[in-house]
Amino acid sequence: MSEKFNLDGTPETNPAFDLEPDDIAVSEQAPVQESLILPEEDPEHPEPTPQIDLVGMAKPVHAVQIVDGPELQFQHAHSLLESLESQDVQVHYQCREGYCGSCRTRLLEGEVHYTEEPLAWVNDDEILPCCCIPKSAIKIELG
Ligand code: FES
Repeated sequence: MSEKFNLDGTPETNPAFDLEPDDIAVSEQAPVQESLILPEEDPEHPEPTPQIDLVGMAKPVHAVQIVDGPELQFQHAHSLLESLESQDVQVHYQCREGYCGSCRTRLLEGEVHYTEEPLAWVNDDEILPCCCIPKSAIKIELG
């Protein structure tokens, strides 16, 4: 990089880009982060057994039939997507919150309940497994 000079031959200085460090007061008592803070749920590594127990309530267990795939069971996981993943069925997803539409899946039989208001557009015969749970036995076709 070439150095710039003023007309009188002195080096040009621009106070806006002064390279002198500012004096930064560093407190001896400044808190030190000693551990890595991870998000509560890591979508890349879902819990191996996300099914949760509902105290005092019967656990809803519904059959989940996948076209050209295994017949599984949904046992109250947080979402159908989580339940499928915990049983080694991979579903394409992105947001996991019902707004991108990546997980759209055809629902051939049965009913689902949305645990969160889905924002992504779906056809009448499609569901968003990331934010719903089965209300009955269901049959789905993964895309
Ligand atoms: S993953 Fe985005 S809507 Fe389901």
